[in-house]
Parts: sequence; C-alpha cells; structure tokens
Amino acid sequence: MAKPTRDRNQPAVAVKGLNLWYGNFQALYDVNLEVPAGKITSLIGPSGCGKSTLLRACNRIIQRLSYVRIQGSIEVFGKDVYAPSNEVVQVRKQIGMVFQRPNPLPLSIRDNILFGLRLHDSDARKAPRTELDQVVQSSLEQVLLWDEVKDRLDAPAKVLSLEAQQKLCIARLLPVKPRLLLMDEPCSALDPKATAAVEELIWELRGEYTILIVTHNMAQARRASEECVFMLLGKVIEHSATDEMFVTPKSEKTADYIEGRYG
Ligand SMILES: Nc1ncnc2c1ncn2[C@@H]1O[C@H](COP(=O)(O)OP(=O)(O)OP(=O)(O)O)[C@@H](O)[C@H]1O
Ligand SMILES: [Mg+2]
Repeated sequence: MAKPTRDRNQPAVAVKGLNLWYGNFQALYDVNLEVPAGKITSLIGPSGCGKSTLLRACNRIIQRLSYVRIQGSIEVFGKDVYAPSNEVVQVRKQIGMVFQRPNPLPLSIRDNILFGLRLHDSDARKAPRTELDQVVQSSLEQVLLWDEVKDRLDAPAKVLSLEAQQKLCIARLLPVKPRLLLMDEPCSALDPKATAAVEELIWELRGEYTILIVTHNMAQARRASEECVFMLLGKVIEHSATDEMFVTPKSEKTADYIEGRYG
C-alpha cells in the first residue's frame, strides 16, 4: 500500500481566528493554532474547555448541529475545510477520526477495514479479492492486530475486546490514506494495559500520519506527543514542545493545570 505523501513544511492544520458558538453560547474564542505535519500533537485542558469542539470543527463533523455558528478559518494541508468548493466527502477522506468509545460498524472485521475504501474509491469496489486481502492485512498489521484476528476476519467486529475494537477503528481509517488523524480521548474507555497498547500503536503511527489527540491523561500527553496545546475556557493558552510544557510551562495557568490544581 502506498504511504500518504508528506510535506513537512506546510502545517497539517492551520486554525485562524476561530470563534464558535453553540446557539448563544460561545465555546471557542479567537483560536489560532498551527499543528505541524508528521507529528503527534496533544490537546489538553480541563473538562468543558473546548477540546472536542475544536477537534470536531477540524473535520466539519460539528456542522451536523444546526445551531452551531463558526467564524474564522481552518485549513488542513493548505485547503480551507469550510470552503464551499471543498466537499465534505473530500474533507473526511483526508481526515480520519477516532472517538472515545470504539465504534466499529456492525460488520465483519474484514468489512470494517474495507468500508471506507469502498466508499471513497470506486476502483476498490471492483478490485480482486487478493488485492483487498492485502489491504486488510497491511492495515491490521499497522495497528498490531493482525496476529490476533487473522483467523477470524469474518467474525463480527463487536466480538473483539474494547482494545482490539479501538485498534480496528484506527485500522479502518488507514486504507483511505488520510493525512490527518483526529483522536478524541481514544483510550478513555480502555483499562491501563489496553491504554498502553493503543498508546504504543499511536506512537508507531507518528511520522507517517499527523495526529491531533485529545487527552485528559497527563502521562499520556507527556509520553505520546511531541507538541502540546493547553486550552482553558475556549481559548488556547499555550502551545509548546511537550518537554518544554511539562518542565517549563510559559503560562501560570498551564502550570496550575499540569500540577493538578484544577479540573
Ligand atoms: N452539542 C453541544 N451543544 C451545546 N453546548 C455544547 C455542545 N457540546 C459542547 N458544548 C459546550 O461547549 C463547551 C466545550 O465543550 P467540549 O465538549 O468541546 O469540551 P471538552 O474540552 O472536550 O470537555 P471534556 O474534557 O469534558 O470532553 C462546554 O461548555 C460544553 O458544555
Ligand atoms: Mg471532550
């Protein structure tokens, strides 16, 4: 399978002057943010500060809510996500998303992997079985799940453990070759051992994919990301290299959060 193309000079995500309202409630205030390509960036901050909102604005999933209003712009690899010429299908093809609870489709393991490809690539619908088998195998290998499921690819995905389901949910994004993966607390439903396994996997994907990951887990942010963004009450307070943020935070508010003084 061809690897996604990379251009390290262009930011993966460039958020400019983003304000977002749910009805009358303003959830994001003048967010400006550049997420570097090919790295893992974690998004941290207390509950309700707007992490999921920002993530959901990046792939337009937030637009499902009719009462959401957005001002400002978000470019993903140089393309304005909200430009009328940029169709939502195209946006979703470039940007994969992983949620808190694994949400495999009510299909077999194999069909979960092939679903996105069949949706986005008309050639895939006619591709020979051997070619599709190769896609299935390589996607499952990339998430370190192949050995566990290779003998039961036709079993329903729901029979897998939560850990395996979450890995599958990551694997099924890969055949479409997204350039950006958004992950909203992907380990929050997992036990510590499964969390460690999924974190290891996310780390493995670094470089090949750009990952923007929301986490409440400071240890995870510290271990699994190269850059870190701290948000508070709908604003970006600080964006630094992860090592710097945890050792010498620029803002007192960041220090308070990291040291567990609130939320
Ligand atoms: N669908 C919605 N309708 C109205 N308000 C919402 C909606 N979703 C979120 N909000 C509000 O927007 C603010 C930001 O919420 P968001 O879910 O983005 O925070 P978060 O940082 O992801 O929190 P958590 O860590 O608890 O997941 C909160 O005040 C929340 O109540
Ligand atoms: Mg959230």
